[in-house]
Amino acid sequence: MTTQANNKINYYDDKDHNYEDFWQGRDYEHNAEMIAIDKLLNGRHFSLAMDYGGGYGRVTPKLLEYSDRVILVDPSVKQLNAARVKLKGLPVDYELQATKDTVPAKDNSLDLLVMIRVTHHLPEPGKVFSEIYRTLKPDGIALIEIANEAHFINRMRYLTRFKGVPKTPVPIGERANGRGDDTPFVNHNPLTVESTLKQIGFRLEAKLSVSNLRRGILKRHLSPKTMLAIENSLQRPLAKVNFGPSIFLLVRKGQ
Ligand SMILES: C[S@@+](CC[C@H](N)C(=O)[O-])C[C@H]1O[C@@H](n2cnc3c(N)ncnc32)[C@H](O)[C@@H]1O
Repeated sequence: MTTQANNKINYYDDKDHNYEDFWQGRDYEHNAEMIAIDKLLNGRHFSLAMDYGGGYGRVTPKLLEYSDRVILVDPSVKQLNAARVKLKGLPVDYELQATKDTVPAKDNSLDLLVMIRVTHHLPEPGKVFSEIYRTLKPDGIALIEIANEAHFINRMRYLTRFKGVPKTPVPIGERANGRGDDTPFVNHNPLTVESTLKQIGFRLEAKLSVSNLRRGILKRHLSPKTMLAIENSLQRPLAKVNFGPSIFLLVRKGQ
C-alpha cells in the first residue's frame, strides 16, 4: 500500500457505496443505539457537541436533543453533503476532516464528543482518543462506540480454537464491507480500549452493551417492540461481560 493510500480517509466518497442504504432494514440496530445514547446522556445538557465521523447525520438529531449546537465532522464530502440536506435548518456546523487521526477543533473547546461506528476504521484508535482528550473541555465528556471483537459469539468461536480474544485490533476486512478495497476495517478488544483511554487520562463513567439481539433469527421471530424492550433491559447488565457487537463507553476528561 502506498503512503497516500495509508493516509486516505475519505472512503465514504466512493460513488458505488451508499452508506444510507446500509441502514435500510436496520431499524433495530438504529433504535438500540438511540436507546443507548438516551441512557448515557439522560439529564445532561451541553452547549457544544461534536459528531465525529458523523456521516450523513444519522445520529446528529439525537445529539441535538442534548446540545445547543453540533459540529458534524467527516472526511467524506459525499457524507457531509448528504448531512446538509438531511439536517437542513438545524443548528449544525459542518467540518471536513482533512487529516487522519486528528480532531479539527481547538484545545479544551468541546463539551461533548460522540464517535459512533468509527472505531471500525481506526486501527490505531489511541491517536484519535488523544485528540479527543485535547479538544474536550476540562470536564468534557466523550461517548465512544467500540466495534467489539470480544462479543459473545466471537468469544465462543475463539474458545473452540482454544484461543483468547486478541488484545490488539483485529482486521476483519471483507467480513464487514464485502468490498475488498483498502478501507481499514478492524474490531477491538474493549479491555484494551478501556486501558488505552485510562492511560490517556479519561475516567470511565458508564458502559453499555448494544445491539445485543442483532441475530437474524431473533429479528424474524420477535416483534420490533419486543426486541427493543429486551434490548433496553439488557444494555447495562450485559456490558459487564462485553456481550454485544457494539460497546458504548461514556468517559470523562480528567481524573
Ligand atoms: C460507518 S460510518 C458512521 C457514521 C455515523 N457515525 C453513524 O453512526 O451513522 C463511518 C463514518 O466515519 C467516517 N470515517 C472513516 N474513517 C475515518 C477516520 N479515520 N476518521 C474520522 N472519520 C472517519 C466515514 O467517512 C463515515 O462517515
